[in-house]
Amino acid sequence: MTAAPPTEGVLVDRYGRVARDLRVSLTDKCNLRCTYCMPAEGLPWLAGPQLLSDDEIVRLVRVAVGLLGVTEVRFTGGEPLIRPGLVGIVAAVAALEPRPRISLTTNGIGLDRLAATLRAAGLDRVNVSLDTLDRDRFARLTRRDRLDDVLAGLAGAARAGLTPVKINSVLMRGVNDDEAPALLRFALDHGYELRFIEQMPLDAQHGWDRTTMVTADEILATLRQAYALAPDPVVRGAAPAETWLVDGGPARVGVIGSVTRPFCGDCDRTRLTADGQVRNCLFATEESDLRAALRGGADDAELARRWRAAMWGKRAGHGIDDPTFLQPDRPMSAIGG
Ligand code: GTP
Ligand code: 5AD
Ligand code: SF4
Repeated sequence: MTAAPPTEGVLVDRYGRVARDLRVSLTDKCNLRCTYCMPAEGLPWLAGPQLLSDDEIVRLVRVAVGLLGVTEVRFTGGEPLIRPGLVGIVAAVAALEPRPRISLTTNGIGLDRLAATLRAAGLDRVNVSLDTLDRDRFARLTRRDRLDDVLAGLAGAARAGLTPVKINSVLMRGVNDDEAPALLRFALDHGYELRFIEQMPLDAQHGWDRTTMVTADEILATLRQAYALAPDPVVRGAAPAETWLVDGGPARVGVIGSVTRPFCGDCDRTRLTADGQVRNCLFATEESDLRAALRGGADDAELARRWRAAMWGKRAGHGIDDPTFLQPDRPMSAIGG
């Protein structure tokens, strides 16, 4: 192991992990106010000049794909569908050589209208957040009465061929943990791939509590009361979701056990925030300012050099269970999940 970051090639860290998967947050704003994510009044949003322009985003993705070996690009938020330039950004990234795979993680609102256009621009697939199928509960949980829009968004994504359409459900004790089997029934009936997610300490309110978190073991035990789950023969690789075949397959269900079953050892991710900061981990407490470098006139090779240096310092794991764990300053909505 060398003591300094490599001066050329892929994004490798001192533990030998290579980042091939870039997650790009396009905005910190959102049209929902999920209680586990944001306060009702929202957050102090990034100001216009702080945000990367569409061209700046495409430039940095070009560096990642062309010089740093990134093969997967995921757009996130906040809510990425509310970024005005989204379709153009997707089209420009789809035109890069070599063309990366392109996906989007969204709350689904407005996706019914945009899905076909995004598909035509080059988007490959989507993940949609949906924590409940009950309208009143949805309105309480997200503080907006938009369940029907999300369901329409899911259907629109499937119609447009943005498949596999995956659903993300964060389970919360006493809030929606009774709905796990019903959510799975819904996903199976519609051909969506559902993943349950352990809640992580990334809420803006810093209200996360380990002792009330619904664990992967509990989720699996609940599902097994209604369904037969068999280990998925497909190799997991660096995916956060551990998957099971449901009732013999081919349908599958996933569990993202970030806290009790961490997958940091296989992590292949690098992140870019909407204001142009590289984060080498979801839980990183330090960032590397590519926006300042870019606006200061750095060429692509210099941007790549800074990105490599940022990844070299990636920690072995998130350390949520360490007594010294510090929740990052930025909340989930400003990192991009
Ligand atoms: P697929 O490639 O479609 O399986 O997507 P994904 O599961 O990697 O991404 P998605 O945006 O759907 O995120 C699902 C959940 O995984 C969210 O709760 C994310 O915050 C979480 N997640 C994504 N990447 C990481 C990561 O690097 N570390 C941790 N701990 N959680 C992550
Ligand atoms: N822990 C785990 N997942 C979360 N998400 C939002 N906040 C959290 C959290 N604290 C999920 C959203 C979305 C994805 C990007 O991350 O539901 O599906
Ligand atoms: Fe918006 Fe996603 Fe946060 Fe909900 S979890 S408020 S949909 S960014």
